[in-house]
Amino acid sequence: MSGLATNYQVCIAGTGSYLPDTVLTNEDLAKRVETSDEWIFSRTGIRERRIAAEGEFTSHMASKAARRALEQAGLAADDVQLIIVATITPDTLTPATACYVQQQLGASRAVAFDISAACSGFLYAMKISKRLIAAGAYENALIIGAEKLSAFVNWEDRTTCVLFGDGAGAAVLRRAEPDEGEILATEMGTDGNLTHLLNIPGGGSACPITSTNVGNHLATLAMQGKEVFKHAVNRMKEAAEMVIERAGLQPEDIACVIPHQANLRIIDAIADRLAVPNERVFVNLDKYGNTSAAAVAIALDEASRSGAFVRGDKIVLVVFGAGLTWAAAAVRW
Ligand code: ACO
Repeated sequence: MSGLATNYQVCIAGTGSYLPDTVLTNEDLAKRVETSDEWIFSRTGIRERRIAAEGEFTSHMASKAARRALEQAGLAADDVQLIIVATITPDTLTPATACYVQQQLGASRAVAFDISAACSGFLYAMKISKRLIAAGAYENALIIGAEKLSAFVNWEDRTTCVLFGDGAGAAVLRRAEPDEGEILATEMGTDGNLTHLLNIPGGGSACPITSTNVGNHLATLAMQGKEVFKHAVNRMKEAAEMVIERAGLQPEDIACVIPHQANLRIIDAIADRLAVPNERVFVNLDKYGNTSAAAVAIALDEASRSGAFVRGDKIVLVVFGAGLTWAAAAVRW
């Protein structure tokens, strides 16, 4: 055996997404809490979001998105070697949602696990699985971002309930031939000093839900929006710049930027700082709100299927979330 490290080229062979049918508009929300379409749209760019049906879990949405990605990649479930589900709204604390997905897909030969990196999870999964495939440990991987945030939102808190939605997005990564696409560069980062800015404080071992605190909405999302906003812009800009540089690209080479879909003002600020024109930045948060780990995965699927970029184009994905966490990827499609 040679001492040289293996470094296979890795491409995105297929994408898929799934959004539940039920639409919750800003007007609908204005009937539940003191808010308005004008406030929500002008502050965030969100018009409506999707809400999973009762009995529809994160794993169900993940599996639906995954089937579409597998179909596009021409990969049978039985041939999937690795499944990573990025989620902060798992079906159960244990086992991992990826185990349910493995069972639902019939991907019985895949090793399956979850990662929890909030909105950054899908690109964390991309970097991890890219490295594992490049090193020769696996030939393919199914990565999924899936969230049922409606189950973890305090529907009485207008500062958070207007922001989030449910959905799932998936991608198949595999070892590529030289003339195929390639994940050119990836980056991820964490700042654990800022865990308090965005979290779900209860429901874990630090604060189990008990009969005395059950009414306190502890197992719902809590966020210091203004602080998160500031960090989001800076970290996403830095991460995107890093992968653009490592991939040897200039802003004018980028056919499409696919950012985390949390807030249109954050997206506009990133586009501005990266010197990429707004028309080359993909936005769908008006329809779905912030679907955390699913958001960039859904956007990637919609952007590619809508022709926002074509084979050979260079694209940049960039995300930010609780942790705080951030990540980016530069891809030749
Ligand atoms: N409707 C009407 N008024 C509201 C609402 C609402 N839904 N929510 C808050 N307000 C009020 C506030 O009470 C406040 O009133 P006051 O001035 O009388 O106190 C006023 O509007 C301004 O509130 P701010 O919180 O200062 O509003 P801001 O302009 O910061 O916008 C927002 C809030 C949209 C949350 C913004 O801060 C944001 O997008 N932050 C980033 C979120 C993000 O990117 N998260 C990413 C990660 S998500 C994840 O990882 C799961």
